[in-house]
This record gives sequence, C-alpha cells and structure tokens, in this order.
Amino acid sequence: MKITNDDTQVAALTNAAASTAPKITVVGTGYLGATHAICMAILGYDVLGVDVDEGKVRQLNDGAVPFFEPGLPEKLAEAQASGRIRFTTDFDAAAEHGDVHFICVGTPQKRDSYAADLRFVDSAVREIASRIHGEALIVGKSTVPVGTAADLAELADEVSPADARIEVAWNPEFLREGYAVDDTLHPDRLVFGVASERAEKLLRQVFSPIVDEGVPVLVTDIPTAELVKVAANSFLATKISYINAMAEVCEATGADVDSLSAALGLDDRIGSRFLKPGLGFGGGCLPKDIRAFRARAEELGVGDAVAFLAEVDAINIRRRTRTVDLIRELAGGDLSGVHVAALGAAFKPNSDDVRDAPALDVARLLYLEGARVTVYDPEANENAHRLYPDLDYAESLDAAVAEADVVALLTEWDEFREASPASLEEAGAHPRMVDARDVLDQQAYVAAGWEFRALGRPAPQSVDDAARVPAL
Ligand SMILES: NC(=O)c1ccc[n+]([C@@H]2O[C@H](COP(=O)([O-])OP(=O)(O)OC[C@H]3O[C@@H](n4cnc5c(N)ncnc54)[C@H](O)[C@@H]3O)[C@@H](O)[C@H]2O)c1
Repeated sequence: MKITNDDTQVAALTNAAASTAPKITVVGTGYLGATHAICMAILGYDVLGVDVDEGKVRQLNDGAVPFFEPGLPEKLAEAQASGRIRFTTDFDAAAEHGDVHFICVGTPQKRDSYAADLRFVDSAVREIASRIHGEALIVGKSTVPVGTAADLAELADEVSPADARIEVAWNPEFLREGYAVDDTLHPDRLVFGVASERAEKLLRQVFSPIVDEGVPVLVTDIPTAELVKVAANSFLATKISYINAMAEVCEATGADVDSLSAALGLDDRIGSRFLKPGLGFGGGCLPKDIRAFRARAEELGVGDAVAFLAEVDAINIRRRTRTVDLIRELAGGDLSGVHVAALGAAFKPNSDDVRDAPALDVARLLYLEGARVTVYDPEANENAHRLYPDLDYAESLDAAVAEADVVALLTEWDEFREASPASLEEAGAHPRMVDARDVLDQQAYVAAGWEFRALGRPAPQSVDDAARVPAL
C-alpha cells in the first residue's frame, strides 16, 4: 500500500478543543517517537520532542527526518508550518512543557542475555520525573517486559519533587515501519493500560481525534497493556516461523511450500496473512521482543508457557543459513571468490532499518565464506555500510547485478519485484537467482534462461515445471 496524503487525512482538534488541550512531550525521537510526536502535532497538539541525541534533534528541527519513512517528511513539514512542534535536548524544558509525557525510547536486547535492556526507559523516566512539578501523566509507548511500568511508577515517585503528582500509564504502539504515519493516525486499535479513571479520561482526550473516527479502544490494567504488545509480536513471529518450518519439510520432501501456503491460507480460521514463506523476520522489534518475553517469563516462573518461542527464533535464524546453502549450491558448491549481488539490506521494504536484518545477515555469512558480496538497497545502503563496511555497496540495481555469479533477492522492495529477468541481463552469461522472499515470477525467470531457486520450493526442471501457484 502506498501512503498518500489522502490516506492520512484525520480529524484534528477544533480551535476550542485545542485551546484547552493537554500539551504533549515525547521522550525519544527515533522511529517510534519522531512519528508519534509529528502525528500528535498534526492532530492539533502543542508538542515538544526530547532526545539525548543532539544530531537527531538538530535534523528534526531543520525539517529533516533522520530515517526513511514514507510520508513522514511531508507530515513534519506540515507540523512545523503549524508552529506546533519543536525538538530539544533540554529535559527542563520537556518536563515543564508536557501535561502528558510519552516515553518512546529504545528497549534493545541486553548484550549478555535475552532480556530487554531497560536503561533507556529508566533514564528517560528519571530525567522527566525528577523535574516535574504539579500533575502529570507519564505514558509508556516503548515495548517493555510486563511489570516494567510498576517499577517505573516507583522510580517516578522516588525521584520526583514533593509537589509532583505523577501517574504512569501504558499505551503500547503497534505501528509498522513503512506504514508508520497511517498506522499512527489510523490504528486498528488503541490500548490504554491505566490505573485510574483520571488517566483513562486524559488518554481518551489526547486520542480523541482518532477515537472519534471509530477506532476501538481497549481499556485494561497496566500489565495487560504491557503484555498485549509482546503477545501480538510473538503471535506474528510464530505464524511466520510456522510456514518457514513447513518450508523446511517441503524442501526435504520435494513438496512446494507456495502451494501449501495457498491451501492453508484459504481456510479462514488460518488466513493467508503472515503465512508467506521466506527469509523470515528481523528488525528492531520482533526478534528482541520474543527473546525478552522468554527472559521475563523465566523470571516469573512461567518460562515453559513460552518455551516454544525459542523454536520460533531458531526456525527464523535457520532460514538465513538455508539461503546461504542455496546460493552456495547455485555457485557450484564453493563460495570463495564467487560474486554475489545481494538485493536488499533493510529488514523489510519501505524502511532503512537494518537492525537484525536477515538480508544483511545473509550478506555477512556469504562474505565470511569468501564470497565477493555487492549489496544494493534503495534506502538502507548507508545504514548497512555503517554496520558492515567490509561489504561492497552499489548505487543501483544494474550496478549490483553487473557480472554477478549469483543474484540473491533478500528484501522484497518493489524495485526488485518489478524488475524483469531481461532487465537484469547484466548478470552475466549464466544468470542465477535465489529468491529468498518468494516474490518473483519463477516461470518468467526460467523462461528467460535463469537458473532459479526459492526457499521451500523444488528446483524447477523446465519452464512448465516452474509455473507459480496463482496469487490469491
Ligand atoms: N520502530 C518501530 O516500528 C516500533 C514499533 C512499535 C514499538 N516500538 C518500540 O518503541 C521503542 C523505540 O523504538 P524505536 O524503533 O523508535 O528506537 P530508536 O532507537 O529508533 O529510537 C530511540 C530513541 O530514544 C533516544 N533515547 C535513548 N535514551 C534516551 C533518553 N534517556 N532520553 C531521551 N531519548 C533517549 C535515542 O537517542 C533514540 O533517538 C522500542 O521499545 C520499540 O520496541 C518500535
């Protein structure tokens, strides 16, 4: 789906409502926080974004979004033109500005365990709460282990001045990178984890332009709100790994996972979404969220209840090594000196996010086996280069595939899906393709003389044999 301005038209506060509206602070202005801050300003609120990263704050104040997100730069320009948004590194100003403080800082995996690293949420709450006078609501949006909000409420109590009356609530965020603007302005549900009617009332007021459009609101206790997000991500990860486990079985039996997935998806109890075989999930959320969930469940003595997530994770990681196997097979059994064009680096299309990106992981594994890897991603080359400077990076699809021994489609950008086999003719006299995202027209490639492999599908023996399962 393309984001257009029409998609993101929303009700905004009327002038009368805006004059009594709570002021908003957003702590942490990365993918989630910048989007949330900008969208809150679009809805009519006076917003101050605060971050510890001076460079990011400078860029945002200069009207530049520091990451790739379709539609967001236009929304930032609109918000700035309204005069309702600013960004700062000054926590005094942030604490003074907000009636409602949204916490949107990162919760990455700890270096030495699967647990979430809560240093950033702790420090964000400490910095804000220690400067608050009077009433304020701190609303967590970051994805956290269940029980975190209760600890943060204690922390806020401990560090805040005597005249502060701070309450903590949780409002988990479900936006998807690539659709972040639309998901923020038109979410499929809002979850308010609250401990008082006052907090519920304030959250309903803040989200009123969205609630008034008929978006369902679920009001829950705080632990449930914390859990909703990790439970949702665990379910999605499980569905992806389920079909990828089936792909492994298909590979061992000569069955075709595309046909299998199509037949399963027609059962409306199962549904076809997230049932697409391929290289699996990555990014700054799903992998670390399922690991943190396991770690928290262990701490709570219910580790067995989510022990299956270890398998979900393992299946996901095996898709990466299996992709390398296919590339090696196509290259004749040995990768040393083989030139591989790696199409894609971002963890998914329409994003420049390379955190735990399966595509980059494959590129790195190929490199470690001696392949000469040329990466091309329409938006993520720069971030990928920062992480893996040893790989070669091309400026265009044509340059990436030029003289490649094997082309591997690793992130399903439209540019790659729409390229015809003929347009990739630069790829040498004996072109070979590994479609790790199961999105290309296998028959068209085979008909154009390509040797073609896809995860979970038998190697096609002829053009007829390569016919795809009709798209559903
Ligand atoms: N990215 C997504 O699509 C998405 C979707 C839903 C939920 N989430 C959750 O949102 C949270 C943030 O994720 P993200 O992708 O935006 O991360 P990010 O790394 O892009 O952004 C985090 C920001 O917080 C800032 N920060 C760190 N410590 C700070 C502090 N003490 N005070 C102020 N700012 C501070 C960092 O400088 C950075 O700009 C995570 O918990 C993530 O799981 C992310």
